[in-house]
Amino acid sequence: MKPVCLVIGAGAGIGGNVAAKFAQVGYHSVLCRRSDEDGLNRMVNDINGNGGSASGFLLNAIEDNSIEERVAAVEADIGPIDTVVFNLGAQIGDRPLAATTYKAFEMGWRLATFGLFRTAHSVVPAMESRGKGTILVTSATAAVRGNAGQHSHAAAMGGRRMLCQSLNAQFSKSGIHVAHILVDGAVDAPDTLGKMLGPERFQELRETRGMEHDGLMLPAKIAETYYHIAQQHRSVWTHELDLRAYSDMPWWNH
Ligand SMILES: NC(=O)c1ccc[n+]([C@@H]2O[C@H](COP(=O)([O-])OP(=O)(O)OC[C@H]3O[C@@H](n4cnc5c(N)ncnc54)[C@H](OP(=O)(O)O)[C@@H]3O)[C@@H](O)[C@H]2O)c1
Repeated sequence: MKPVCLVIGAGAGIGGNVAAKFAQVGYHSVLCRRSDEDGLNRMVNDINGNGGSASGFLLNAIEDNSIEERVAAVEADIGPIDTVVFNLGAQIGDRPLAATTYKAFEMGWRLATFGLFRTAHSVVPAMESRGKGTILVTSATAAVRGNAGQHSHAAAMGGRRMLCQSLNAQFSKSGIHVAHILVDGAVDAPDTLGKMLGPERFQELRETRGMEHDGLMLPAKIAETYYHIAQQHRSVWTHELDLRAYSDMPWWNH
């Protein structure tokens, strides 16, 4: 039976590329995303058509029991979950405090922090009983730097980083490896950054910083790091790392 890699938040950027990478090396990847069924089917069909093994499900992470039920169904119907990639972000763009409603603030926490907590609650017991498992958490600059206008995003991502640390503190000795992967810059991600900017600005960004300039992080390259972390020997686990394009200053330099 193939080990299972469950990706929560699989668009055409990091999530879908990580799923494709794990499938390419022998995992069965389970892709979950909120709304774009055509996009989901395209990614799943691409993986299966390229000799990999994948399935896909629509899942809205903010709905009660959506994550819990999907985890249980994957364990029961597909196989033991070896790796979970928690890839949901909570970026809503810059908003001053007065324009950040209570609802918007809480939504950031529900997606980025509580979503990871629910995921961990669901997958950890089975991983613990098997004595192994990997939880890879995509993160952002907002987890370590609170910029003006990022009240909801920074609070939610900062909380998520701390949750990764406390999960590690409790479960690393049980063989569960939690890694907080700080993506410190813009990703060539059409389903998230692309939608936030709109087609014209995204194309302009690709032409000026992406493509041959290598100034936009390529999700297929990010996926290689995820796979590497999931294969690390337990004597050398990474718990936190950051990634950025060569032409970007690290978060602590600006
Ligand atoms: N993109 C960037 O420039 C960038 C920069 C720094 C950090 N990050 C981090 O990277 C991660 C996202 O990766 P990505 O940008 O490459 O995106 P991606 O993997 O291409 O797509 C993420 C997917 O998450 C899904 N999603 C959103 N809300 C959801 C919900 N409530 N329930 C289930 N699925 C939901 C969306 O699905 P639908 O499209 O179907 O709605 C979206 O396609 C986040 O953790 C973010 O903080 C991204």
